[in-house]
Amino acid sequence: MELKGFNEKKIQERAIAILSSGRPGWDIPHTLATVYWMKELLAGEGGDGPVLICAAYLHDIGYSQVEFANNWDGIHQAKNDHMAKGAAMAAGLIKDLPLTEGQQKEIVHLVEVHDKLDMLSTKNEILLFEADSLGQIDNERAKSTFKGKDLEKFLYLFKQRRMPRFATASGKKFLARLWPAAKKSFS
Ligand SMILES: [Fe+2]
Ligand SMILES: [Fe+2]
Repeated sequence: MELKGFNEKKIQERAIAILSSGRPGWDIPHTLATVYWMKELLAGEGGDGPVLICAAYLHDIGYSQVEFANNWDGIHQAKNDHMAKGAAMAAGLIKDLPLTEGQQKEIVHLVEVHDKLDMLSTKNEILLFEADSLGQIDNERAKSTFKGKDLEKFLYLFKQRRMPRFATASGKKFLARLWPAAKKSFS
């Protein structure tokens, strides 16, 4: 999907440069999968493309600035940190892009809250949540780096915490498409 009037190349390059020092083997493919699903969601649900595509590229950049062990416990400790740090970084990365001040604020906000699942309620928050979640179980685009018990925990919590929060018709459709294969190939 092409975004009218918005060239995503700059934000893509900036995001990838930062993500290359994020979670090894995960942050780049997961982010590209998240962007892919965001475009699919936008095609089905409509929405502010530039805001949501930028937020999808930037949502996990904070992991590059967070100290953590690359396992389940480590990543969960890093969760809050990665949102706050990512939001601060995002503000600087989008300043010269053709976005209004309101759009820039919204991108920073989305990065700052994207993993606070209980707080998500606006259309933009829900769409980023759905794209991020789909990008976590898209085994073809981003193979999980969790193994053994961590992988079991991930799948269990995804089902408990993320699945019931899918709200858009497109999101639910894509989830139903990905989940059976994800469950099978991840286990
Ligand atoms: Fe995240
Ligand atoms: Fe993510």
